[in-house]
Amino acid sequence: MMRHLSVPRNDTALWIEYLSKRDWLAASVAIQDLGARRGIPLNQSAPLDIKGLPTVDLEPKVSGPKHWTDRLPQNLFERYSDIWPTSNDQLGDLVILKIPDEVKEFKDEIGKAILAHSERVRLVCEDKGVKGEFRVRDLQIIASRDGTITTRTQVKEHSKKLWIDPAKAYYSPRLGTERLNTFEEGVNLSKRLSRPIVICDPYAGVGPNLSLFDNEDFVEMIIASDLNPDAVELLKLNLSNKSSISCSDARQIAEKHKHKADLLLVNLPHDSIDHLPSLLTLLARGHEVMIRGWAIISKDKITETKTKIKEIIQNHKIIELDVTPIKSYSPQDEVIRFQIRIHFND
Ligand SMILES: C[S@@+](CC[C@H](N)C(=O)[O-])C[C@H]1O[C@@H](n2cnc3c(N)ncnc32)[C@H](O)[C@@H]1O
Repeated sequence: MMRHLSVPRNDTALWIEYLSKRDWLAASVAIQDLGARRGIPLNQSAPLDIKGLPTVDLEPKVSGPKHWTDRLPQNLFERYSDIWPTSNDQLGDLVILKIPDEVKEFKDEIGKAILAHSERVRLVCEDKGVKGEFRVRDLQIIASRDGTITTRTQVKEHSKKLWIDPAKAYYSPRLGTERLNTFEEGVNLSKRLSRPIVICDPYAGVGPNLSLFDNEDFVEMIIASDLNPDAVELLKLNLSNKSSISCSDARQIAEKHKHKADLLLVNLPHDSIDHLPSLLTLLARGHEVMIRGWAIISKDKITETKTKIKEIIQNHKIIELDVTPIKSYSPQDEVIRFQIRIHFND
């Protein structure tokens, strides 16, 4: 049996810090759940009384390795200790990681260690980069828990479930906060127009920008499209059949959905600004409409980009034109968001 300090659940982190600073924490022993309280394992040097808190004697629970690399054969781990990949993406039951050349010959060991580390992982894939105009990942399967090799999986984003397949259609969880903001902007636009709105995402991918809007009362209709047929197949699974979904070039859906959209999303980061003029016919006339887009531009070209956008929409009444950097893309480039509120004259 081992002595555990019983602390209120919400204060666990504070007490761990307190005990760790004094070197009173037992090494490699797990914290235990005691209902409203938690039991923190104490070592031999911890005093009998710690700030008057109760202690309980419990069977020690040995905590497992913290990282999958701890599960590699010891000699192998030590030989390449600075080289093993430390980060990876977990998307649903897939783990995707880049493998440095020096340890590529140990892919089997890497795959086995990752599967052993987390029961939730079904498939481990080496990420060989993004390819083609559809920005899909070149994935090489290195281990499967159950023999299945499909890269289709389901992820949860802001309470919505999405089918994705990173080997067939673009998806990144990284702009999740932007998607929440887009949702807020949609809610506010609908309030300003005092009616449900039409949202159009012509570069929808598998639909992460749209799933939040699906089946909401303030949404009249979703128009979603992508040029990649595999993305469209997943998009259909991710949106309800109230949406209008097509597989086409964004610049060609404008005629079909002329003057329909109240909120237009433009996410083709290397070409968003160049495509913008061909997309304007999608926007409704006679009242305020909104464009939210994302682009990758050189860090010193923010003002130039703003001027370029202004020129594209210059014949109309601009209510707001905001260009905000949101994250670095490379040493020279960054991802920006442009938000335009505009009232078309014709
Ligand atoms: C950066 S991804 C954005 C996908 C999605 N909006 C998201 O946030 O995850 C760009 C998408 O545009 C699609 N695409 C590329 N060129 C296109 C075009 N000319 N017309 C329509 N879609 C296109 C790609 O297949 C890809 O799914």
